[in-house]
Amino acid sequence: MPKPRLIIANWKSQKTFREVDAWLSRFVDLMRPHLDELREPGKPQIVIAPPYPFVDRVDAVLRSLDLNNIRLGVQDLSPYPAGKYTGAVSVRNLEGWEIKYAIVGHSERRRYFKENEHDVSNKVNQAIESAIVPVVCLDQGDIQVQADAIGRKQLSKCVVAYEPVESIGTGLSQSVAQVLPVVKQIKAVFGDVPIIYGGSVTEVQVDEYLLATDGVLVGGASLDPNEFFKLVKKAMLFE
Ligand code: PGA
Repeated sequence: MPKPRLIIANWKSQKTFREVDAWLSRFVDLMRPHLDELREPGKPQIVIAPPYPFVDRVDAVLRSLDLNNIRLGVQDLSPYPAGKYTGAVSVRNLEGWEIKYAIVGHSERRRYFKENEHDVSNKVNQAIESAIVPVVCLDQGDIQVQADAIGRKQLSKCVVAYEPVESIGTGLSQSVAQVLPVVKQIKAVFGDVPIIYGGSVTEVQVDEYLLATDGVLVGGASLDPNEFFKLVKKAMLFE
């Protein structure tokens, strides 16, 4: 059976509590008539990755839906276990929430927070130890370097997000023709792991990426529940 496609909403550091509540209530209203359909095998898995202060809110709402196909994600993790690391969120802090995925190594983390491939590798290990699936974000130049740092044993437990830096938040998404060879390259290094694309994905072109990859990582187009719902609806047409 083909792997279910992943649609990950990455809100980055946007939104207030009020905006999160409004988003959740609108999105759930829109999704409600489609929940049974989403339960069918092969339908996409939707992941919402809010900023940490809102994780509890999103967790509560997703639990109330009791759906295997809408899951909670986080945008980052501490590379260290629980301990004396002021400001960091360790996997132990997350116990009690039903977190399925953790985005790690996003180019914004690498660029603004100076994370390197070893930090990302440590985050991958922390996630895997806690049964959280790491979604490792890579640009083309990071593939081999990052895989070497992660090490053979853990590679097969990752999801890889191909995220060309120049496409993130710019509206300049890569064409599928550009994405395909990189997907091949990632497969050659990571093996047969799910590979998703991120970089200015909207509901207009999401279907093209879903034909070529195992899913999408959506930033800007996930902030508005109506826009994100349209994208999800299109993804639900894929088996
Ligand atoms: P974008 O962000 O959809 O706003 O380009 C994607 C990402 O950073 O993962």
